[in-house]
Amino acid sequence: MRILTLLTLATVLAIPLAAQEKGSDTKGKFYYQKDCKICHVAGGKGGVLTPLSKTQNQWKKVFDAGNHGKSQEPFSPKFAPEGHLLHIKTFLINHASDSPQPETCGG
Ligand code: HEC
Repeated sequence: MRILTLLTLATVLAIPLAAQEKGSDTKGKFYYQKDCKICHVAGGKGGVLTPLSKTQNQWKKVFDAGNHGKSQEPFSPKFAPEGHLLHIKTFLINHASDSPQPETCGG
């Protein structure tokens, strides 16, 4: 009986948490341009990197690993504030090369 209650509680709590996992596409585009494109443009330190540079799965892996390129440095705080990352991730995944709305520029 207790286990059932716990399971129910876990499910009820897990739903809003999962929903929060979704960032904003619009904010993500803005933050991506602001935070990432400082270096990720032609001739920039990081070279060209657009949503199209990777598939949705590849982007997921980049953000799940939580670190940046070969240097293995965490994205935050050096490359973007912690609060921007979920939105940037959402934008990049939504417009990845195999997404329904691929997008090159990000601006
Ligand atoms: C201060 C400059 C700088 C900023 C800002 C920056 N990057 Fe980078 N990035 C680099 C450099 C330099 C490399 C290549 C060296 C390496 O792999 O560490 C790189 C590599 C990467 C790679 C690996 C290359 C690949 O094709 O897989 C990814 C992914 C990446 N950056 C994503 C991002 C994202 C997303 C942001 C914004 C949150 C960002 N970077 C912000 C400089 C930057």
